[in-house]
Amino acid sequence: MDNKEIKITLCENRKSKPLPDTLEFGRVFTDHMFVMDYEEGKGWFNPQILPYQPITLDPSAKILHYGQSVFEGLKAYLSAEDDILLFRPEKNFERLNRSSERLCIPAVDEDFVLTALKKLLEIEKDWIPKVEGTSLYIRPFIFSTEPYLGLASSQTFQFMITLSPVGAYYKEGINPVKIAVETDFVRAVPGGTGDAKTGGNYAASLKAQILSAKRGYSQVLWLDGVEKKYVEEVGSMNVFFKINGEIVTPALNGSILEGITRDSIIQLLKHWNVPVQERRISIAEVYEAFIKGELEEAFGTGTAAVISPIGEFAWGDKKMVINQGETGEISRKLYNTLTGIQKGIEADPFGWTVVVS
Ligand code: COI
Repeated sequence: MDNKEIKITLCENRKSKPLPDTLEFGRVFTDHMFVMDYEEGKGWFNPQILPYQPITLDPSAKILHYGQSVFEGLKAYLSAEDDILLFRPEKNFERLNRSSERLCIPAVDEDFVLTALKKLLEIEKDWIPKVEGTSLYIRPFIFSTEPYLGLASSQTFQFMITLSPVGAYYKEGINPVKIAVETDFVRAVPGGTGDAKTGGNYAASLKAQILSAKRGYSQVLWLDGVEKKYVEEVGSMNVFFKINGEIVTPALNGSILEGITRDSIIQLLKHWNVPVQERRISIAEVYEAFIKGELEEAFGTGTAAVISPIGEFAWGDKKMVINQGETGEISRKLYNTLTGIQKGIEADPFGWTVVVS
């Protein structure tokens, strides 16, 4: 990369901060953002921290027509000692580059963008909320900017990082959510972009989500795109089931997002000697376990959602109410341990926490 010097322009007037207990997910943004440009033949250049502001895009910019973009999501926390903590941030930038590879977007220098993020966080430290259940959500993203309507990869891109103080992703908070199993629409197919974090996957999921919300469900559980038989993931999360004492999560198959929280949960369960399997699991098997009284818990995992217990699945006309719609023991223990490690309260035997300052 050319020019690794980050130019910093601070805003004149800082915005007032929302009260931490009024925070929703992703509605309020901090005072500054990081921006960097790319041009074919020149590489990434002009890294800057600027006051948060609207961007100018040519109406013919490729992102607006063909959706060539990728994004990430991670969080920063403040420890009791007032240190800024990040959770496995290198994994997010690794995944960003993997998503970019699929979308024909040039890779970023992972160490450099992590350094840029740390600088931005130091400037925005007083935006990190401290109240239980809150954090500073970090959204790195790349989009194509070339004004050209030919269907070809863009010659120019912009990389940005914005920050948003957030509360719980679901209005239910840590209380169980209700999920509808999607039997008409599909999210991803083998060979598609299901394991890339790209906007199109999320845009294509909205219709099913809106229809399920009308029936009172927070999100949909996606089945595989070929047979509509095997469980893949939930709208914004990976999914886990506790069946007869054993934890099962769908194995990564190319159409499931490789969640960093998912990986952390698997490692935590193994560390606790709780049996955990990554394998193909059909929705019929989940239903059979429910009928036999063996479906003990279900939960989703994701950066935004953290650990979200699932209290009910609706599969066609079949309803599966799990653990009387209450948060299960393992879901609660995982939530407490993971958020404890993230905030520096719990021991971190895996070395996941990165101290910024
Ligand atoms: C995240 O969990 O960080 C995501 O990117 C999911 C998004 C739908 C909020």
